[in-house]
Amino acid sequence: MSDANIILIGFMGSGKSTVGRRVAKRAGYDFLDTDHQIEADTNMKVSEIFAAHGEAYFRELESRLAASLVHKTRTVVATGGGLPVLNQETLKSAGKIIWLKSTLPEILKRVRHDGSRPLLTDSQNEEKRHTLFTERESIYKSLAQFVVLTDSRPMMAIVSTILRYIQSH
Ligand code: S3P
Repeated sequence: MSDANIILIGFMGSGKSTVGRRVAKRAGYDFLDTDHQIEADTNMKVSEIFAAHGEAYFRELESRLAASLVHKTRTVVATGGGLPVLNQETLKSAGKIIWLKSTLPEILKRVRHDGSRPLLTDSQNEEKRHTLFTERESIYKSLAQFVVLTDSRPMMAIVSTILRYIQSH
């Protein structure tokens, strides 16, 4: 076991925040959720930042936060689903990267009633959503040092799998 951070990546709704918080608590690590940190820093909801300033501005805030991760240790980081896109090298040097992998139908089932994710709710167009999912998957795949399948697995089983990974790496 090392002091390296654990960086959780994955598509919106793959469970990074819920799982990450539990893992951090059980491992005695700090926990940081990049969306929540940005919301706390700006005093705005992510959806408000998108609406008021646009996606590019949100991505700048994400990149600034990602750069600060290299100064942390023993922290579980739940990243926003799009954060890895522009910060691949930064994330690689910030810790061990774990991909919570879910299928699109499962994700849509989970987030159906949640309006907090502009990119999912705005992509009314099924094809656009599918393209985003496919593009993201290839980035997550290239970054991940460990992949955890999440579909129809109880949350605690996912947490235990990650805890075992932390203990043995
Ligand atoms: C986004 C994912 C969201 C949030 C924002 C954009 C994305 O985070 O950062 O709505 O581009 O995939 P979650 O993955 O926590 O939903």
